[in-house]
Amino acid sequence: MALTLELTPEEQAIMKGEQGETLQKVMQTVVTFGELFGATKLVDLQAAPHLAMSWSSDAVLPFIEIYEKLVAAGLKTYAPFTSNPKPMDHNNLDPGEEKRVVVQELHKHHHTLGELYSNLGMKENAWSCACFVPQIGNTPQQGDFISWSESSAINFANSYLGARTNRNSVGIDMMTAILGKAPYFDLLTDEGRKADWLIDCSALTKLPHPELLGAVIGLKVMEDIPYIIGMDDRVNALDDVVGYCKDLGAATASNGAVGLFHMEGVTPEARDQGRSLLKSDHQLYVISDAELQRVFNSYPVLWPDENAKPERVFIGCPHNTLAQLRWWGERIVSALEAAGKDAVSCPPYLFAHDNVASEFKENHPELKARMAKYGISVTNNCPVMYMTTPKQSDEIVCTNSNKTRVYSKSRFYMDDDLVHIIVTGQLPDQAPKAHP
Ligand code: F3S
Repeated sequence: MALTLELTPEEQAIMKGEQGETLQKVMQTVVTFGELFGATKLVDLQAAPHLAMSWSSDAVLPFIEIYEKLVAAGLKTYAPFTSNPKPMDHNNLDPGEEKRVVVQELHKHHHTLGELYSNLGMKENAWSCACFVPQIGNTPQQGDFISWSESSAINFANSYLGARTNRNSVGIDMMTAILGKAPYFDLLTDEGRKADWLIDCSALTKLPHPELLGAVIGLKVMEDIPYIIGMDDRVNALDDVVGYCKDLGAATASNGAVGLFHMEGVTPEARDQGRSLLKSDHQLYVISDAELQRVFNSYPVLWPDENAKPERVFIGCPHNTLAQLRWWGERIVSALEAAGKDAVSCPPYLFAHDNVASEFKENHPELKARMAKYGISVTNNCPVMYMTTPKQSDEIVCTNSNKTRVYSKSRFYMDDDLVHIIVTGQLPDQAPKAHP
């Protein structure tokens, strides 16, 4: 078959099998994938890989078979990689004995996958979708070519960090990580990073919830690239711009399929190139307070009874940053103390990597101790994996994540309403407001 993708002499040698049959197959896979998308060449990867597959049901068996062959051939990824959160953390998010047995049986290949990852070059204890925080350190630089999977991590790397990755699938992420090369197309190219939409937020009366704004944008533009204006003063004034952009991007990526957003005055390419990033035939979408409320009102309630008593509150999908753990900890503790409560009425779970949780405990020991006393848990699990496991999926869960809402039966609430639910155990009396 004649290749349209041009290979260097070194790549041609791999393609001919001169470095072994397994690496030849890896190269053939990556080249075929690239040709399907019209790539013209391969580029060398920088920084480190991030993989999305951390679940371990029977669905991973075909991947395990391939990864065992990679290990047998002595292959490793070009740099130590990170991976999405593990599916279980029974110490901090215990579903109870009956469900625990189910989830353990479901994820029975967990140890095999972990061992394979370790042999293929995984960084030690690097299970988190927020792999770019300093406590984990998989933080590419602007312009770095990477080849990640996990839609929220991809979006953050492309948008906030200005690195360059396509939205890869499980399997392709490992093939490119082994090869240290990825096909050059779409979001890796300058042209593929131009914006299709001008999103005008200047009429919004307040800083919107990032998970709602991101969802509203994602639903409109789907897989296109938005260029957001009217947000820079409000976003740059935040203490935790990383947390805001992480959550906004994750919502665009899950409620739509956005791999990259530009925000004027905030994201690096928008700072450097301004509105020249807009395509000449771009479309306009104006977002008002009423538009946020319209989309918020459209969310279906998937609970059997819409007035059901909430059983858990899940906060942090993608995983929380250090600043977010502190913000939520302080906010819940002060609300409990103001209400004269000595324990939460509906248990909240803050999702974060172990290193982030440890640094939080080290930096804020008193706050952490009060959180533990009141029943506020920090867990390294993934809320969506928890909520998509048989028996656990019917739990009555409220969340601050529009991604968790999309992938489960949980209900999305604004932050004030979540604090009310945690403190009182009751749903708010009033209809939820999108822009309180
Ligand atoms: Fe991360 Fe799991 Fe949400 S991987 S983005 S916490 S679905």
